[in-house]
Amino acid sequence: MSWLARFIVVREWVANRGSYRAPAAIDAAAIQAAEGGALESPTQVAEIMQSQGYYVGFALQNCILQDLLTFAETMPCYTNRNPALPFFIKHREQCEQKLDAPLLVASYLDSHEACNAYQRLKTDPYLLAVASQYLNHPAVYLRGELAWGIPAPNTLTEKINMARVYHCDINDFKTVKFFFYLTDVGEGEGPHAYIRGTHRHRQLGHQWIGQGCAAIDDEVLLETYGRDRVHVVTGPAGLGFAGDPYCLHKGSVPYQKPRLLLQLEFGIYPYRIWYF
Ligand SMILES: [Fe+2]
Repeated sequence: MSWLARFIVVREWVANRGSYRAPAAIDAAAIQAAEGGALESPTQVAEIMQSQGYYVGFALQNCILQDLLTFAETMPCYTNRNPALPFFIKHREQCEQKLDAPLLVASYLDSHEACNAYQRLKTDPYLLAVASQYLNHPAVYLRGELAWGIPAPNTLTEKINMARVYHCDINDFKTVKFFFYLTDVGEGEGPHAYIRGTHRHRQLGHQWIGQGCAAIDDEVLLETYGRDRVHVVTGPAGLGFAGDPYCLHKGSVPYQKPRLLLQLEFGIYPYRIWYF
């Protein structure tokens, strides 16, 4: 990734060079509004993302949610993303007993690409329109992940490695990441949290160090950008939200129940490197 992608002025300049035009009508077969009523248009969602750095307010159609849950229950996931250590989530306790390290995350690696419901989301016209509108370019699919966050004590190093401290991800000049909770997520299940507005307003020193922001203590970032700007996203299974991963964010450490999270990222250009 270009070193320059860490600077807000460069990110905005690249986006502004695009000329995306939204289609007149969009079929949102896989997505619905989170609390009933009409889905907000991709233009409205993109405007909110432009102002806040993220948008919370849509949900999976129930059939998509159920298909993803069935996939997660019937296919192996991988211990701390190690392809040599598969297990079924129903055998989590046995897996934890055998392991000589904490089980922090159980990812399906790339196997979720074989799930039909995932393919429907990856090509969903509504999600693509939201991403394209925000990026001002036709959105390019980068990668996604389906993974369990497992309650376990985390060291600071593990928190940094698992994206459980405030950080930003720079996978392209600008990207959009969609998240869907597949299990109910309250305060104890590792909710996602954003610091509103930090995709557009960030100290130059913090832009300069790019993803190195992860090394700055959460408390320092909260003091700098304002505790009142923190939005902790909790909600029922199926809840979806979209964010610019350059906006400071983290997945909190779950301490009660495991949390199953699906994420998909779209950018302007295709890249192979990917950060969570
Ligand atoms: Fe992240």
